[in-house]
Amino acid sequence: MSSEKPIVLVTGGAGYIGSHAVLALQKAGYEVVVFDNLVYGHRDIVESVLKVELIEGDTNDRELLDRLFASRSFSAVMHFAAYAYVGESVSHPDKYYRNNVTGTLTLLEAMVAAGIKNFVFSSTCATYGVPKIVPIPEDHPQDPINPYGATKLMVERILSDFDQAYDFKSVVFRYFNAAGADPEGRLGEDHQPETHLIPLVLMAALGHRDSISIFGTDYPTPDGTCVRDYIHVTDLAEAHVLGLDYLLKGGDSQQFNLGNGNGFSVREVIEAARKVTGRSIKAIECDRRPGDPPALVGSAGKARSTLGWNPQYADIEKILTHAWVWHQKRHA
Ligand SMILES: NC(=O)c1ccc[n+]([C@@H]2O[C@H](COP(=O)([O-])OP(=O)(O)OC[C@H]3O[C@@H](n4cnc5c(N)ncnc54)[C@H](O)[C@@H]3O)[C@@H](O)[C@H]2O)c1
Repeated sequence: MSSEKPIVLVTGGAGYIGSHAVLALQKAGYEVVVFDNLVYGHRDIVESVLKVELIEGDTNDRELLDRLFASRSFSAVMHFAAYAYVGESVSHPDKYYRNNVTGTLTLLEAMVAAGIKNFVFSSTCATYGVPKIVPIPEDHPQDPINPYGATKLMVERILSDFDQAYDFKSVVFRYFNAAGADPEGRLGEDHQPETHLIPLVLMAALGHRDSISIFGTDYPTPDGTCVRDYIHVTDLAEAHVLGLDYLLKGGDSQQFNLGNGNGFSVREVIEAARKVTGRSIKAIECDRRPGDPPALVGSAGKARSTLGWNPQYADIEKILTHAWVWHQKRHA
């Protein structure tokens, strides 16, 4: 690769969303280095699909970060590295504050010390808590109801303070439910353990699970099940490239929702998965889980108007089709 390309450090680039962002960055002409402790990431994906340099390390390792930042000129950091299991964040909040907050703060301090001032951050709709308005706009109050959401909100506050103090520029993306897989079948979702609806439904379709549980059928939604905004991971990745371009052109710090602005219920997702896979998928109705809002749907007009973001795969069947191709390949 030519050394004239801007170099971007992608933390968590061996994970689900980060790896798709690496593909999008490469397509857009960026040079990429992946930084991942491989706690949840996949070495094989970095080595055989992304084919970029992998620094195996932890964001809490300040010495390693200092050496890395001294070794070459990074234009920006895209920060996906975090723990993201909501239930675990409730039972082990210390683990989440150390990794998601302290780890990010250590990374930010190392960046400031090295003079790197452009940062793209994976935040979440979980920072909003229980929505008062749906679709949720970016200026909706942020009042997370679990430690995971709280860690992401704390980082958002740190970023705002770093901007004031150090002229440190960030684009914060609050994702709704990332879903789907690379349309060319090279990458996809492979979390261990898996808690997300679409991969669980597809594992049931593959026969790796007996059934899929529907938690709550008496919500105030059209069919009684929870409604979520599913956003294709490739559309998310494209938004990250646009966010980075925006920062590198001198854009101010901004926060954007990344969602489709329309939601699908759990029943609709399962029905669409039956259609796409042609398999029967057994669904079991269970009680509500504590802390699940009836509907989480984001208004994403700001990313469209400010960044020119134009999601290509809003259709749930398209999302499921791409995920299905990947799941059959990965879990055959
Ligand atoms: N998947 C979603 O629907 C969703 C929704 C909202 C926000 N997010 C956020 O997006 C980001 C990526 O999510 P994902 O689904 O790709 O998760 P993932 O677990 O697949 O990827 C995270 C990666 O970060 C690495 N990592 C974690 N802590 C690290 C550390 N301290 N140092 C170095 N590497 C570390 C893991 O090994 C993993 O490869 C996370 O920050 C998550 O909170 C995800």
